[in-house]
Amino acid sequence: MTEGAAKITIRDLEISFGANHVLRGVDLDLNAGKSLVVIGASGSGKSVLLKCILGILRPDRGSIVLDGENILRMSERQRMRKTAQIGMLFQGAALFDSLKVWENVAFRLLYGERKATKIARRRAIECLGKVGLAPEVGELFPSALSGGMQKRVALARAIAAGPDVLFFDEPTTGLDPITADVINSLIIEQVRALGATAISITHDMISARKIADEVAMIHEGRIVWRGSASDLDTTDNPMVRQFVEGRADGPIKMKMRKT
Ligand SMILES: Nc1ncnc2c1ncn2[C@@H]1O[C@H](COP(=O)(O)OP(=O)(O)O)[C@@H](O)[C@H]1O
Ligand SMILES: [Mg+2]
Repeated sequence: MTEGAAKITIRDLEISFGANHVLRGVDLDLNAGKSLVVIGASGSGKSVLLKCILGILRPDRGSIVLDGENILRMSERQRMRKTAQIGMLFQGAALFDSLKVWENVAFRLLYGERKATKIARRRAIECLGKVGLAPEVGELFPSALSGGMQKRVALARAIAAGPDVLFFDEPTTGLDPITADVINSLIIEQVRALGATAISITHDMISARKIADEVAMIHEGRIVWRGSASDLDTTDNPMVRQFVEGRADGPIKMKMRKT
């Protein structure tokens, strides 16, 4: 796909969980080869949005067009084939504790593409190398790794099948600033190497500025602002200002349980 062509086009996307109307008409456009960072308060539906595109959650209405095809109109099987081109780094790394590191990295190759063990293992070790981890790490279980190493393994898993779209859900949350910077650099390097289109979710403004070509803010189920990373400093949008400056007072209110 040529750079600049529409890669992902989302229109009027809605999803509710019972009375909780989470996405209330999301419109989002992303061109091929671009890196978009999505910001927004906890619980605003950022992870839900990515899960809708991945096909893990089924939206109530709207369209998600990937490479010109609406994946919500596809059969389950067609959609799974289409979304298999997306690599995902899940919030909190989400590695399988009972599988060795290399098996985690090779998971999709082993169980999705049914590749031979030897081939999958070689590919896993190659991907671990791309994120700066030695082959021996592949033999360990995730519980033996530091938080930063777990995120690297999760990144290796996300890139293992050579995806052309990559999603990163809070890749640096819980890491110290130096390790976070290493992860951000690896993300940028791997997205470039694959020529991938990327959507990242982060609360961390340093990461957002580093990773993003563009930033979109989600609030009350809709995209309320979009701009370049440098616009974060100059916009007078009160919701973006509140978020960037980390203030409790402003248009974004935390939902508190009334006692
Ligand atoms: N599978 C689910 N079933 C019911 N509610 C869910 C589910 N997934 C997410 N939610 C709810 O949707 C809202 C948005 O969640 P999420 O997208 O995870 O927020 P965040 O923006 O922090 O990533 C939250 O209120 C959450 O409780
Ligand atoms: Mg989330």
